[in-house]
Amino acid sequence: DWTMGAYKAEAIEKIRAQVGDGKVICGLSGGVDSSVAAVLIHEAIGDQLTCVFVDHGLLRLNEADEVVTMFRDHYNIPLIHADESDLFLDALEGVSDPEVKRKTIGGLFIDVFQKHAGEIGGAEFLAQGTLYPDVIESVSVSGGPSVTIKSHHNVGGLPEKMGLKLVEPLRDLFKDEVRALGRELGLPDSFIGRHPFPGPGLAIRCPGEISRDKLEILRRADAVFIDQIRKHGLYDEIWQAYVAILPVRTVGVMGDGRTYDYACALRAVTSVDGMTADFYPFSHDFLGETATRIINEVTGINRVTYDITSKPPGTIEWE
Ligand code: XMP
Repeated sequence: DWTMGAYKAEAIEKIRAQVGDGKVICGLSGGVDSSVAAVLIHEAIGDQLTCVFVDHGLLRLNEADEVVTMFRDHYNIPLIHADESDLFLDALEGVSDPEVKRKTIGGLFIDVFQKHAGEIGGAEFLAQGTLYPDVIESVSVSGGPSVTIKSHHNVGGLPEKMGLKLVEPLRDLFKDEVRALGRELGLPDSFIGRHPFPGPGLAIRCPGEISRDKLEILRRADAVFIDQIRKHGLYDEIWQAYVAILPVRTVGVMGDGRTYDYACALRAVTSVDGMTADFYPFSHDFLGETATRIINEVTGINRVTYDITSKPPGTIEWE
């Protein structure tokens, strides 16, 4: 009989057998995957684990605080909080190509991670929350030729560079299974149910050039959209929802004045594993109310569109 409880016990034994009394470092992103990996490994080897949370300045509103509070204060997992937003945002200035963005972020992430991991000293292992779909999707399109759609942001290349061995306890799980494992580990439902968030963060929700101003507008619009979704009781029906800020400003009218502000796109999809997805069929009332709230509450946006592309042919993220 296969149960998540048995899977957890087995995974813990495997981690102990692999790691022995070695030290492990783990990059926390605030997403469900790396969080579940960290809590599982912590349960297996306690303080032999140290987590590094790299804040690249591309997180959502209040996200860094939430992650640090949860892991450091609630779980007592040793955690290094590396606030490196200036480093990342300066490096991304003038960069508009999606793959260059991804590679810039991935490269810097490795440098920063390596720098902070060095503070721990003597780590032999690197833990990652790699899932089964991550393993396949960055390699090939199923059934087709081997093509990279997007270079997934992970700490690829890091193990060799640092002479570290990989610990990947979630490697044969799909997202829904990772959530079940997280529940088994006692992570709060509010956290387990969180929508996935990509490693490159808001950078890939800001097509074209990124700026601190645009990121700030995006954060606020995104928070309103998610608030709307929660208020209408839709959060758990949706796989992922976010706002993308578009690289275009359009003319509008507010009161008796002209506005010339950014347009944004709402994105919400249902999915089982992120490999395919359908756009979420919001009611027109919901969409209208959300557009009104975003335009009224977020300075810098005067037009809201809804992205009705499914995957394929679209991808979930815009870049
Ligand atoms: P796409 O946009 O490829 O996204 O349809 C599929 C799922 O993967 C997430 N995603 C990422 N997750 N690092 C991650 O950890 C990445 O570089 C990355 N790119 C996309 C995306 O949010 C969606 O859940």
